[in-house]
Amino acid sequence: MLKLETIISLAKRRGIIFQSSEIYGGLNGCWDFGPLGVELLRNLKELWWRAMTYRDDIEGLDASILMHPRTWEASGHISQFTDPMIDNKVSKARYRADNLIEEFIERMQKKEKFELAREIELRLSNAKTPADFYQIIIDYKIPDPVSGTTEWTEVRNFNLMFKTFIGPVEDDASVVYLRPETAQGIYVNFKNVLDSSRQKIPFGIAQIGKAFRNEINTKNFLFRTREFEQMEMQYFVRPGTEDEWFEYWLNERFQWFVDIGFSKEKLRFKEHEKLAHYASRAVDIEFLFPFGWGEIEGIHSRTDYDLRNHQEFSGKRLEYFDPNTNEKFIPYVVETSGGVTRTLMAILCNSYDEEDVPSEKGTLERRVVLRLNPNLAPIKVATFPLVNKDGMPEFAQKIYSDVQRHFKAMYDDSGAIGRRYRRQDEIGTPYCVTVDGETLQNSTVTIRDRDSMEQVRIDASQIIQFLKDKLSL
Ligand code: GAP
Repeated sequence: MLKLETIISLAKRRGIIFQSSEIYGGLNGCWDFGPLGVELLRNLKELWWRAMTYRDDIEGLDASILMHPRTWEASGHISQFTDPMIDNKVSKARYRADNLIEEFIERMQKKEKFELAREIELRLSNAKTPADFYQIIIDYKIPDPVSGTTEWTEVRNFNLMFKTFIGPVEDDASVVYLRPETAQGIYVNFKNVLDSSRQKIPFGIAQIGKAFRNEINTKNFLFRTREFEQMEMQYFVRPGTEDEWFEYWLNERFQWFVDIGFSKEKLRFKEHEKLAHYASRAVDIEFLFPFGWGEIEGIHSRTDYDLRNHQEFSGKRLEYFDPNTNEKFIPYVVETSGGVTRTLMAILCNSYDEEDVPSEKGTLERRVVLRLNPNLAPIKVATFPLVNKDGMPEFAQKIYSDVQRHFKAMYDDSGAIGRRYRRQDEIGTPYCVTVDGETLQNSTVTIRDRDSMEQVRIDASQIIQFLKDKLSL
């Protein structure tokens, strides 16, 4: 069974992900992407961007993170983007009240107290106000997992948006928010994109960008962080057609995860029972993480909620005029909303593998291999001289600098060749080129495949074409 700690330690050791501001003890809920992590992140975003915008009906956008504060009134985030929060008076630990109750239900299930678990579950599904959550915690004497006590504060609603100030004066008039989702940048630009691109409904607008949420409890590495990246697309459709487009995007997005290398057995759909304030239907695409199933992307039917509210709050018409029927209407929206950073973590978990393979000494040795889709791999090809003499390093260096003009490559001449292969396996490099004695005779090299470990011999002049045939990024 893969442990999350294994992924965290590999990510740190190989420069994929570091704790933010680590030398100061770290900053909770924030992570930095190292030299290999940033390549992986860029490749992931590029694959999404190509899949979503290299088609006739979707335009791209990059809106600013700071937006007019009225945006968040119109979107409902100021009044409704809250989590119920509770503190334990003894341990001072802070919890999301709904998470505290959910974890208690899980403990009851493990103790086979199914009836009690079901009863609490039912009350939780009907809980809406802070008082509802509080009453459940009190009625079932739910203890603090840290102190074991039931001395709780009241439950309060906590808004998840980060606030900051525009300009030098920190007063109410200058408050702005760090966006908690990229979607609103798309809605406020709906007319701009429509008028400048001459798109006709149905069409979509896609965007990748940072989002911020002051989560009460961050957890599970990149799963729930305070700063993260989203890849979102809002698809504007004629009212009445949203259900068929919802099904369409559900299948498209599921297939995309399969196409980029996720195994189907580790993906599933999960219909939402509790809906966000803007949604009339929501289905998650979930991945089986080491800690259980977790959402990596949500498909949401958002009706005309956002555009209608922005029209009302801004006083600007956000209707679509259909030239075929001469009708004016506010389009309905089907949203695909994925987390870049959360997906990246899922990719690491999905591709991590360990196996026993024959070593140079004839014994078996364990190799760690990231079976990444080659287009996602941070390094596409590593180049080695078999030994550091007889002109092999010079030959290998020449190959390295030629390949580097087309693909992210690496040169490695230190240690036994087997160890060099292992180092590349661990970061998912799909191909390793080795210059050996035969290269000096006839200019051929070996290319080793990461997954099968098989080697083929080709002419050195064919390396770039070989890689071009295998890779698109
Ligand atoms: N525009 C709709 C929206 O933001 P969401 O379900 O709140 O919907 C969409 O978020 C995706 O963003 C999630 O599926 C997840 O991948 C990612 N995400 C949300 N909150 C996150 C967090 N605190 N840390 C990391 N990723 C997060």
